[in-house]
Amino acid sequence: MERLFCPFIKRNAEDKAVGNLKICVYPGSFDPVTNGHLDIIDRAAKLCDKLIVAVLVNSRKNPAFTLEERVGLLEKVLKDRENVVVESFDGLLINFVREKNASSIIKGLRAVSDFEYELQMALLNKNLDPGIETLFMMTNINYFFLSSSAVKELARHNGNIEGLVPECIREEVIKKIMK
Ligand code: PNS
Repeated sequence: MERLFCPFIKRNAEDKAVGNLKICVYPGSFDPVTNGHLDIIDRAAKLCDKLIVAVLVNSRKNPAFTLEERVGLLEKVLKDRENVVVESFDGLLINFVREKNASSIIKGLRAVSDFEYELQMALLNKNLDPGIETLFMMTNINYFFLSSSAVKELARHNGNIEGLVPECIREEVIKKIMK
């Protein structure tokens, strides 16, 4: 029998039993999380009931922050977002998305240079599971130039990263990079 949407059911971010719960996954290395990521997270969280920010365990990019640090920074930044949770995953993204009963993958797009790689990933994932969509969100124009690599490069050379990462993690990011 088809489930009917009932607006009186209190939706809980942890409650996977509610049939109409729309779960999305926003994957990445988050090495570290930037204000560009945060902007996508906040916009995406409005489009679903539960957003899982999924941190890749074994990034080929040789991360500066350990998995625990990357997850810890995200948790600190996102602690007041009710429908956003932070998890980690290893292996294929599509398997994680399936495991979580999520319907869509959220990706942020900046320049055209992101497009080719992201198109390939989206098509590969579509080929692996046609039931799961990849949704692209254009970056906020204020963060067009921003990336985790740029933050690390600036911090390494004593550049100002104010406004580029959430304020509550700025000192932690600088300390780690300067170590
Ligand atoms: O923040 P990033 O490093 O650009 O994120 C890349 C990420 C984690 C989204 C991507 O590397 C990924 O999905 N990795 C998992 C492996 C996978 O599923 N690859 C696609 C099929 S080959």
